[in-house]
Amino acid sequence: MDSSRIRNFSIIAHIDHGKSTLADRLLEMTSTLTPQEMQSQVLDNMELERERGITIKAHAVRMKYRAKDGHEYELNLIDTPGHVDFTYEVSRSLAACEGALLIVDATQGVEAQTVSNVLLALEHDLTILPILNKIDMDTAQVEAVQQQVVDLLGGSPEDMLLISAKKGLGVSDVLEAIVQRVPPPPGGTDQPLRALIFDSLYDAYRGVICFIRVVDGTLRKGMNIRFHATGRTYEAEEVGVLRLQRIETDTLGTGEVGYLIAGVRAIEDARVGDTVVEARRDAVEPLPGYKPLKPMVFSGLYPVDSDDYDALRNALGRLRLNDAALLYEPETSTALGFGFRCGFLGLLHMEIVQERLEREYGIDLITTVPNVRYEVVGKDGSVMEVENPSSLPPASATEEIREPILAAQILLPSEYIGAVMKLVNERRGTYINTEYLHTDRAILHYELPLGEIVTDFYDRLKSVSRGYASFDYEHKGMRRGDLVKLDVLINGDALDALSIIIHRDKAQTWGRELCRKLKELIPRQLFEVVIQAAIGSKIVSRETVRPLRKNVVAKCYGGDITRKRKLLERQKEGKKRMKQLGKVEIPQEAFLATLKMD
Ligand code: GTP
Repeated sequence: MDSSRIRNFSIIAHIDHGKSTLADRLLEMTSTLTPQEMQSQVLDNMELERERGITIKAHAVRMKYRAKDGHEYELNLIDTPGHVDFTYEVSRSLAACEGALLIVDATQGVEAQTVSNVLLALEHDLTILPILNKIDMDTAQVEAVQQQVVDLLGGSPEDMLLISAKKGLGVSDVLEAIVQRVPPPPGGTDQPLRALIFDSLYDAYRGVICFIRVVDGTLRKGMNIRFHATGRTYEAEEVGVLRLQRIETDTLGTGEVGYLIAGVRAIEDARVGDTVVEARRDAVEPLPGYKPLKPMVFSGLYPVDSDDYDALRNALGRLRLNDAALLYEPETSTALGFGFRCGFLGLLHMEIVQERLEREYGIDLITTVPNVRYEVVGKDGSVMEVENPSSLPPASATEEIREPILAAQILLPSEYIGAVMKLVNERRGTYINTEYLHTDRAILHYELPLGEIVTDFYDRLKSVSRGYASFDYEHKGMRRGDLVKLDVLINGDALDALSIIIHRDKAQTWGRELCRKLKELIPRQLFEVVIQAAIGSKIVSRETVRPLRKNVVAKCYGGDITRKRKLLERQKEGKKRMKQLGKVEIPQEAFLATLKMD
């Protein structure tokens, strides 16, 4: 295909603003799908995604469109994940495009993700086509939202397309605008091959399938290729284009989007963001922007039933085949036994992995409180990364502890500014400034420790703003913090799964609250149970669970043996769901107590 007739674009939007619905309409109008094939919201096809309504994994689809100028164009729609945890994937997908359709829901207006996606698109010099969606709804505020978009992007309201993706109104103008306003791909046909991997997935039969955009040169079936980051060489067994199914072709030319299968057995060898080059060319510069993914949030995952340990290990291995960002390594806990310490890109990524383990692999899990990665500088000047509170070196050997900091934007109606500021201050936020988008919507800029949002920040933000505030962030770096490790002791034994690293000012309150919660959750036993919270050797809080006097069978007056046995059986059942620490039995709920604090 002559590259002047190719248009590569993405759709960027805040969650629920109508990205999938518009994608459906575009596929329909270009007859990429027959009506029989047309199934609603084809672009996100993982069951979990559909349920959560969040596009997680990028895919691409090619459409043919005959424009008003009489020529036929090849339009490649590259789907982008829509959540902050997957920013790097969004950024690679955008790097494969020249244009982006920016959808804003006319009933909701600009949201935090709209802003961060626009910034990403601008970083990649993309042509942005602003589109107001849902104009069929009575609550659409077309003029006010147009003004918000102008405040964000510049330009004028006339540049915006007004559509209803659901009803199909205005969608043909979107296709025309893509052809007229998005530039064709640049790049040299006669240059050595350079192709960007913007997504990849693992297929049990074919190995890794890379989704690629050819930036320079041509990729041919049978060519010997090299992945730049790993230096590994392979033969291109199959190349082709994507029309929902894969369609094999002999070549992919400059500017084209498609897939590559090369017998790669591990997803790490064909990483998102890497450049595919021809193996015999040594001196080709890789495309810019590759970075290996680094997990930001960590948590211990333990099987409820210790017999499930092997199943859990296998399941993690399988998930990892398709998810290069998921890290895990074996870990043991005195209370929880054998499990894994896992690293995730963020909270949503963590939840998705946990849910898939439970749902697809049927493994019941206990997860420990999520935490972030700390940098610990020792008295001797050494720097150590700590991902697990129980491996924090003692305070006496520590010079300082650094924690990850975010640059956060919170977009909200002005009336909630007070309530949200109060929340963010409680979470140790440092105020930077306030920007107004139009008169009644503001963006608050804050610096915020990542560790302060890993528990329940989103929920709290939604509740103090009645659901109106939206939140997004970038990572900013590491910063020194006055942090301490808080341990929980049960009759003197540390309950390692409940240890956390926390700011000194908050440690006492947290410790007190946690002891109180545990007192409610730990059943009375035959002896006294003392629950303590400690910073180093200093006890900051203490609660006691009184001993039980009666034993369960005492109330069956001697005789009835079957009834006695039944009671003992039942007691045994109950025990299964307990974890043992020393002599003390701890119910599983206790390990979740920390998630429900505040
Ligand atoms: P994520 O996949 O969660 O990012 O959402 P999305 O941006 O893809 O949104 P989606 O297309 O799933 O639309 C969200 C909701 O808005 C759905 O219930 C759609 O039916 C509805 N919707 C989308 N476009 C329109 C429209 O033009 N008018 C009306 N009334 N509803 C729409």
